[in-house]
Amino acid sequence: MQSYYIETYGCQMNAHDSEKIAGILDTMGLRAAEKEQADIILFNTCCVREHAEKRVFGNLGALQKLKTEKPNLVVAVCGCMMQQTEVRERLYHRFPFVDLIIGTNALHMLPQLLERVFCGERVLFTQGIDDEIAEDLPTKRAPGVAASVSIMHGCNNFCTYCIVPYVRGRERSRQPERIISEIQALAEQGYSEVLLLGQNVNSYGNNLEDMDFSKLLRMVNDIDGIKRIRFMTSHPKDLSSGLIAAMAGLPKICSHLHLPVQSGSTNILKLMNRGYTREEYLALTRELRLALPNIELTTDIIVGFPGETEADFEETLSIIDEVGFSAAFTFMFSPRTGTAAANLPEQVSQATKKNRLQQLNTLQTLQTRKTNERYLGRVEEVLVDGFDQRTKLLYGKLSCFKTVYFPGAFDMIGSYVGVFIEKTHNSSLLGLLEQKVQ
Ligand code: SAH
Ligand code: SF4
Ligand code: F3S
Repeated sequence: MQSYYIETYGCQMNAHDSEKIAGILDTMGLRAAEKEQADIILFNTCCVREHAEKRVFGNLGALQKLKTEKPNLVVAVCGCMMQQTEVRERLYHRFPFVDLIIGTNALHMLPQLLERVFCGERVLFTQGIDDEIAEDLPTKRAPGVAASVSIMHGCNNFCTYCIVPYVRGRERSRQPERIISEIQALAEQGYSEVLLLGQNVNSYGNNLEDMDFSKLLRMVNDIDGIKRIRFMTSHPKDLSSGLIAAMAGLPKICSHLHLPVQSGSTNILKLMNRGYTREEYLALTRELRLALPNIELTTDIIVGFPGETEADFEETLSIIDEVGFSAAFTFMFSPRTGTAAANLPEQVSQATKKNRLQQLNTLQTLQTRKTNERYLGRVEEVLVDGFDQRTKLLYGKLSCFKTVYFPGAFDMIGSYVGVFIEKTHNSSLLGLLEQKVQ
C-alpha cells in the first residue's frame, strides 16, 4: 500500500482543501504517513504574501535530497500559487523533480492525474479559476471536535492588495441543500461545532435565488446535534443589520466575530478598496455590541500599505483601543504581482513596516490581556478539544473563541464542560473543572 504526506500553507480554505485531498487519496487506497516515509509528498500552496511563497520554494528545494535517495518518490504541488502562471512556470522549470502540478479547481482529477504520473509522465494540469468546483468529494477531516464546511468559493471584492480573487476566481455560493446535508451528516458523525468557510460569507447567496447568509444560518441552527456555529470571514461592507439581528436571535451562533478592519485610516481603506470608512467600521462594532453584548471581535490588520503615513498608522493604533479587539492577525504589506497596490507609488520601507508591526503587536498584546481579564472568576462553557502533552492539561474553546487550559480526564474530549476561569495568560486562560455539562 502506498502512502502520502500533505504539507499545507495558507488559510482555512486551503486546510479544508487538504482534507479533501486526504479523502481522495484514502479512497484510492493510500494511507497517511510522515514526510520521510511517504511515497507521495503533496504541497498545498498559498501566495497571499511573499513569505508564504518563499517558504514553498525553500521547502520544495529541500526535497531534492529525499528524491535522490528515493527515486520513486512522487512530488506534487497544488493550491493558490499554482494558479499564478508565471510562478507555476518558474517552479516547473526550477524543480524538474516535481512530478505533478495541479490547480485549485481540479482536485477531483487527482486520481486520474496520479495514474499518469505512476506511468512515468510529468503532468501539469490547471483549469480556469472560475470553473465549477466538484461537489461530494470524500473528505478526511483533521482530528478534532469542530468541522469546517465551505459554503462558497472565490471572491469578487478585489481589495487592491489581495491576490485571492486572481487565484480563486469569482464568488460562487454552494447550494444550501448541499451544505445542510453535509452538516447533517457531520452531526450524525458526532461533530457538534461547524465552521462555515468563505472569503466573504456575508455575501453568501448573491448568485442564488431567494437566498442569503441569514437564511443559511437559520437552516444550520435548526440541525439537531449541532451546538455551535462559527463562520469566517465577514466583510464589514456586507455585514447588514439584518444579519446582526439574525445572529442575536440564533442561540447556536458563537459569541465571536472575525471582522477584518485592515486599517484604521479612512484614506488607506479607500486606497485598499475596502468599501467602508473608519467611522462606518466603528459604528458597525457599536451596533454589534449593542445587539450581542458578550461578543468578542477579532481582526486582520495590514501595516505599511503604500502611502501609509505616521498619522494613518496612529489611526490604526487607536482603533485597537477603541474597538477592544480580543485578537488581531497582523501583517506587513507584501506587494503581489498583478494586484493594483503592487504598483502604487509611495511604497513603505521594510524598516518602517517592521517597526509599525512591532508597535501594533505590543499594543494588541495588552488589549488581548485586558479582554482575557474579563473572564476571571466566571464559569464558562468549554468544548474540550484535546490534551496538551507539554502542560498535561486539557484544552478547549469558549464560545467567544478564547482558549482555556484546565486539568481533567481524557474522556472529556469532545464534550462540553463548565470551567471556572482562575488565571489569564497573554493569549489564553487557565481554569478548573467546575462541572460536566453533558
Ligand atoms: N477573505 C478574507 C481573508 C483574506 S487573506 C478577508 O477578506 O479578510 C487573510 C488576510 O491576509 C487578509 O485579511 C489581509 O489582512 C492579509 N493580506 C492579504 N493580502 C495581503 C498582502 N498583499 N500583504 C499583506 N497582508 C495581506
Ligand atoms: Fe482578499 Fe478582500 Fe477578497 Fe478578502 S475580501 S479575499 S482580502 S479581495
Ligand atoms: Fe488562502 Fe493563501 Fe489561497 S490565504 S485562499 S491559501 S492565497
